[in-house]
Amino acid sequence: MKAMTYRGPFRVRVDQKPKPKIEHPNDAIVRVTRAAICGSDIHLYHGLVPDTRVGTTFGHEFTGIVEDVGENVDNLQAGDHVLVPFNIACGTCFFCSRDLYSDCHNSNPNATAVGGIYGYSHTTGGYDGGQAEYVRVPFANIGPTKIPDWMDEEDALLLTDACPTGYQAAEMGDIKEGDTVVVFGAGPVGIFAARSAWLMGAGRVIVTDHLDYRLDFVRQYGPAETFNFQEVGDVVLYLKRITEYRGADVCIDAVGADAHGDLLQTFTGLKIKLQAGAATALVWAINSVRKAGTISVVGVYGPTFNLVPIGNVVNKGLTVRANQCSVKRHLPRLFEHVREGRIDPKAIITHRYALDEIAEAYEVFTGKREECIKPVVLPAA
Ligand SMILES: NC(=O)c1ccc[n+]([C@@H]2O[C@H](COP(=O)([O-])OP(=O)(O)OC[C@H]3O[C@@H](n4cnc5c(N)ncnc54)[C@H](O)[C@@H]3O)[C@@H](O)[C@H]2O)c1
Ligand SMILES: [Zn+2]
Ligand SMILES: [Zn+2]
Repeated sequence: MKAMTYRGPFRVRVDQKPKPKIEHPNDAIVRVTRAAICGSDIHLYHGLVPDTRVGTTFGHEFTGIVEDVGENVDNLQAGDHVLVPFNIACGTCFFCSRDLYSDCHNSNPNATAVGGIYGYSHTTGGYDGGQAEYVRVPFANIGPTKIPDWMDEEDALLLTDACPTGYQAAEMGDIKEGDTVVVFGAGPVGIFAARSAWLMGAGRVIVTDHLDYRLDFVRQYGPAETFNFQEVGDVVLYLKRITEYRGADVCIDAVGADAHGDLLQTFTGLKIKLQAGAATALVWAINSVRKAGTISVVGVYGPTFNLVPIGNVVNKGLTVRANQCSVKRHLPRLFEHVREGRIDPKAIITHRYALDEIAEAYEVFTGKREECIKPVVLPAA
């Protein structure tokens, strides 16, 4: 089969690989019909995630048709049209039984670090991902979810990660009615976080980025107030000024390790890799949120440490919440929101590529060219 493979930092291509087989009675094989590229893939592409091995296939956001199932799989059968959450979760461990699917204890040999994730380095289990014609889906009774007849497949695709992650970002912000919420990052995750903040009762939503085309999009879609962080001077001071010098109630980091905007963070985090990525957005969040406010972090950082002002967290009495999204937990509610038209996930898709064009897709998306917000790969095209 054809599959995207990683060749080293800034290099991906399409290779022939053996078609995956059922390896365990709980497996399914899915023929991928759509796969998205995520901001998380950018960290892999830039070589920021440890143990990203040459030859592995990325892709943790995909939909497809079930081709084959192992003998223990009774929730699915060949021919089912499914969306597959990015988390690989056993469904029964301490964490899964508390709906913390992203913290599953059985799906990653490196279990105390993080649960299993498709196509996200051997740090998260070394599973091949869905930017390919076929993918092996472990614990197939738990993750894959049938796409309802009324749902557009591209909406379903975005329910595998970006949309639930933005939603969980807002949820972890513990937004109270009328709260002012600042979202750092106007990528797919930040856009859905802004939209979700309203669903959870926010009174004011402010989004910042340095890409004007994304700010234009989220101003309409959120809707949200926006500002370009490169145009305001001191970002923390600016945020204080527009929030009565108190600071926002909730700040959401939807940027993660590849942040721009601070020379020292960029140099130590991205150039010489002394820390696990640039924590610029997180620092701005901590320093600008009001005392006793909440910071919600879904932006991804590599193991193990970053330069963040922990003293300010203590002195200001902040609540910091963070996690990989537990996608499955949010699906029932998000299905309702999509059906009722309160969220339109597919609206953020800007680009579609054949699998053979994957190198181009990565270049456009990571380079933020052509006003790209979310690219989708169609392996059958
Ligand atoms: N926790 C999870 O489960 C989960 C799931 C999906 C994605 N993520 C992470 O969420 C983050 C966003 O993902 P995405 O797909 O939206 O990525 P993206 O790269 O498309 O978007 C990130 C945006 O942040 C902007 N940005 C850069 N520096 C900034 C700064 N200092 N302040 C404000 N904005 C800044 C960029 O210009 C870009 O528009 C990534 O770190 C990704 O790995 C986490
Ligand atoms: Zn993702
Ligand atoms: Zn589990």
